[in-house]
Amino acid sequence: MNQTRSFYEQVYQRGDLSALKSQSREEVLSKPGRRANSLAIIGGALGDEGKGRVADEIASTLLKTHKNLVFYRDNGGANAGHTVEFNQTKIVLHQLGAGVLQKNATVILGKEMVLHPQDLVTEIETVYAALGVKKIPADFKIDEMAFLCLDTHRAFEAVLKMRSTGSKGATGRGISPAYADVVYRHPLRMRDLASDSWPEKLKQHYELYEQLISGCGFKLAEIDVPRLEGDPIQVGSFEQMLKRTTQAKKELKKFIQPVFNFLQKKWASDTPIMVEKAQALGLDKRWGVYPDVTASNCSFDGLLSSSEGIIDQDQLSVKAATIKATYTSSVGARVLPTPMDEKLAHRIREDANEYGATTGRPRDIVHLDLPMLSFLFKVSRAEEVVITHLDISYPEVPIKVCIAYELDGKEVGYRPDQEYLNKVKPVYVELPAWDGEDVKGKTKLDELPKEAQQYVAFVSMSLGVRPFMITTGPKREQTIEC
Ligand code: IMP
Repeated sequence: MNQTRSFYEQVYQRGDLSALKSQSREEVLSKPGRRANSLAIIGGALGDEGKGRVADEIASTLLKTHKNLVFYRDNGGANAGHTVEFNQTKIVLHQLGAGVLQKNATVILGKEMVLHPQDLVTEIETVYAALGVKKIPADFKIDEMAFLCLDTHRAFEAVLKMRSTGSKGATGRGISPAYADVVYRHPLRMRDLASDSWPEKLKQHYELYEQLISGCGFKLAEIDVPRLEGDPIQVGSFEQMLKRTTQAKKELKKFIQPVFNFLQKKWASDTPIMVEKAQALGLDKRWGVYPDVTASNCSFDGLLSSSEGIIDQDQLSVKAATIKATYTSSVGARVLPTPMDEKLAHRIREDANEYGATTGRPRDIVHLDLPMLSFLFKVSRAEEVVITHLDISYPEVPIKVCIAYELDGKEVGYRPDQEYLNKVKPVYVELPAWDGEDVKGKTKLDELPKEAQQYVAFVSMSLGVRPFMITTGPKREQTIEC
C-alpha cells in the first residue's frame, strides 16, 4: 500500500500539463491512420458528467470551420438527460441529443437506441417552444431500425422493481425490458410504427405484455407509467395505447427513414462526425457496478453494431471519456466504495446542482475513485479525458482521491460486482485544492491556479490518457481546449 501511495504522490509531483498537451487540437483531430474529425464522447464514470454539453460545444466549434456535421447517437433512450444552454435558454434534452440545436448539423438517432415515441414528440415540442420555431434547427433523422420503448416496457419494469432488487435503481423508463425484447427476438422498431400494419403489431406486443404482467399478479392496463413531462399516466387498454402511439406516429413519420447509406457516404467524406453516447461506462452492464447498470452498450465498441459496421472505434480520431474533476456523482441503488462526508457532499450537490435532469433525484456524491476509473478507461480503450466541473473546489478542503482498495490486508483493484465492492476499503491520498472562484469561466490552461493545473495533470497521467477539454463553468464558452 505504501508503494502505491508513494507512486501516486510521485505522479502528482511530476504532474506537468505542458508535456501532456504537446499536440494541437488539429493534430489530435487528424491522428495518422484515423478517420479525421471523428469524435466520440462517452461518460467515463457513472453518468451525468456533462457529456451532452461537451458534445454541443465541440460541435459548435467544428461548425465554425466546416459547412456541416453529422451528430450520431447510438444507445439508451429517455433514461438520459442533460441540460444545454442555447441563446440564454436552458433546454433539457433526453433522447434527442445536443446536436439538434445546431443549424448545419444532421442528427441521427441510431439503430441501437430504444425510443419512446410520445416522449420524443414531447421533447421535439419543447425544442420548438424554447427556440420559438416550428422546425428542428438540425436536419433530423431517426433510423427506421431503432427500437421502440413503450409504455408496456415501463409497466413491466415497474412490476420488476416491485419484485426484484436488480432493477431497483432504474429510471423507470422501460429501458431494460425494451432491450430484452431484442434478446428475445421480438422487438418493435421505428419502421413498425411507421408501417400500415402498426395496429396488428402493437396488438401482438400488447397481448404478450398483458400476459407477462398478469403472470406476475398485476394488470397491465392499471399500471401507472412515467412521462418526461407531467404526471404518470395509466397504460390503459390496447385501444388507448394504439391511439396514443398513432398520434405520435403522425408527428414522427417524416423523420423515420433508412440511414445506412447516408451514414456510409458521410463516413467516407470529410464531414466531421460527432458521437454523443448516453449513460456511462460505470453503467454499462459489462463494466458497471452490477446489478445497478443499464442495458445498452455505453462504450465506444457499441458504435460498430449500431452503425452496422460503419463507425469503427479503432478509426475514431478522438475517443474521450468525461469525468468530473474533484468528485463523482451517482444516481441509483449502487453503493460505492468511496463515500464522502455528507456535509461536503451536500455543499457540492448544491454548488454543482447535482440533481437528476430526468428524474430530479438528488445524486450521491462520492470521492474520485481511481481504481474504478482506471478500470473503466482501460476496458473502453479511451484515449482522452474531458474533465468537467473544475470550478468545484474549496481552498480549505483538500481533495481526497482513492488510489487503491484494501481487502483482507491486501491491495486489490475494481471488479464490476456490488457484492465484491461492499467488502473493499478505500485508500486515499489528499491533494491540495484551489479556489473554484479562481477557475470559474477560465478559457486558457495557463490562467488556472497552479494546483488546478497539477491536479488535471495528475488525473490524466493516473488514467494514462491525454486531457482533451476542461470545463470551468456551466456555460458553453466556459471551457478550456487542451
Ligand atoms: P435504466 O437505464 O433506467 O435501466 O437505469 C439503470 C441504472 O442506470 C440506474 O441506476 C439509473 O439511475 C442509471 N442511469 C440511467 N441513465 C442514466 C443517466 O443518464 N445518468 C445517470 N444515471 C443513469
